[in-house]
Amino acid sequence: MADLKVKAAGVEFKNPIIVGSATPSMDCYGTKKGIDGGAAGVIVKSLFGEKGKLGRNFPRPRFKLYDYKDYPGYPEKLPHAFTLNSLEECSHFGYDEYMEDVNKAKDMVGNDGIVMASLSGVTMDEWETMCKMVNDTKADWVELNVSCPFAADMGVKMGAGAVELLPEITSFCKGILKKPFSVKISPQTYDPVAIAEACEKAGAMAVNMSARLSGYDIDIETARPIGPGAQGGWGGPYLIGYGLKFVAAAARKVKVPIIAGLGVWDWRDIIKYIMVGATLVQSGVGIMLQGYNVSKKWADNINAWLDAKGYNSLDEIRGIALPNILKTAEVERAPEGVYAVVDYNKCNHCGICLRSCFYDAIKVTKAGAIVNTKKCDGCGMCAEVCPNNAVRMSSPQRRAKA
Ligand SMILES: Cc1cc2nc3c(=O)[nH]c(=O)nc-3n(C[C@H](O)[C@H](O)[C@H](O)COP(=O)(O)O)c2cc1C
Ligand code: SF4
Ligand code: SF4
Repeated sequence: MADLKVKAAGVEFKNPIIVGSATPSMDCYGTKKGIDGGAAGVIVKSLFGEKGKLGRNFPRPRFKLYDYKDYPGYPEKLPHAFTLNSLEECSHFGYDEYMEDVNKAKDMVGNDGIVMASLSGVTMDEWETMCKMVNDTKADWVELNVSCPFAADMGVKMGAGAVELLPEITSFCKGILKKPFSVKISPQTYDPVAIAEACEKAGAMAVNMSARLSGYDIDIETARPIGPGAQGGWGGPYLIGYGLKFVAAAARKVKVPIIAGLGVWDWRDIIKYIMVGATLVQSGVGIMLQGYNVSKKWADNINAWLDAKGYNSLDEIRGIALPNILKTAEVERAPEGVYAVVDYNKCNHCGICLRSCFYDAIKVTKAGAIVNTKKCDGCGMCAEVCPNNAVRMSSPQRRAKA
């Protein structure tokens, strides 16, 4: 059996899986269920300071899933690319209740898991108060959360609207905190990786690059945003590409451990994040839609995969994808001899490829799709859209680097 243990900021986690700060970690009971479900740690839903206390009361209803239950085969089969749009900011607790709840959570969890408090202030006074209070709790870890996708839209300077202040907040809170801590960085800024570097310099012990983006959808019948009517946080598997990019970029620049996780939906996603440099991987939507116990399943699958590949620990795969990620300018251009080849045993001449070929290279006959190899650009779109997998490309795209 491979060893799934990871260490971050001197704290040992039994595996890399963290329940993200979200609805499932709203209180000590959720935290306990998160650990019992197999996660190594739980980031408790964030405490907002007094100036952001509007966020302690949520709109109802507040969740909207796109491309989820209309997936063929649902609920036995779940989709792999969907989005959750939600408007739910922080914990409903005030300062004292939050600290009591964190203590209760640690009492309930004991040594089975890591309880991670999450704080989000507007002013330095608020940060100071919250950091001092959390020092006196049993929390194993503290996260300074400057990532809330819509907090700034509440009319206060916090979350995604204050991300440029994070290095200053980090150094200020580091002077107060007596516990290991991470900083959670919103991607809604020009250069989140530069912020991560500045936070590391300011003394952050870990960086969390897994925050969501914010956005709207518009109902064309009413011309109003779908949902409560304002910005929502957008996360879920549809966004994993952004998360992997931010983490890969951060891993090249910072030495402190990275907490990753936008769009985690299954165990493979956790491996992907570790391969681009993450130490811990958290999930929000994945836990919300598959339940607390999915963490155990993920850990077992990761273990089986590591064993099958002959790896003994996660250290052996951390960052191994980084050297394979090319710069755009390094990608090989126009390799010769790439064109579409149709398998006439599979082609039912439906014509779907025809409408997506912009090189006028396909003719659909009774025999099936015929490709004019002189005109074919080798773009590969017909192979992507063919419902019968009747198209293959004549030679695989060669890689610029082995
Ligand atoms: C309903 C909901 C509530 C959330 N609340 C918080 C929060 O209080 N504090 C925080 O740091 N992040 C919060 N998040 C963000 C998650 O911690 C995490 O960064 C994000 O969900 C990761 O993306 P994923 O949902 O695609 O896994 C919330 C996410 C959701 C979906
Ligand atoms: S989409 Fe596929 S099945 Fe349909 S005509 Fe093209 S090759 Fe044939
Ligand atoms: S590979 Fe591109 S250019 Fe060639 S037939 Fe298919 S869609 Fe047309």
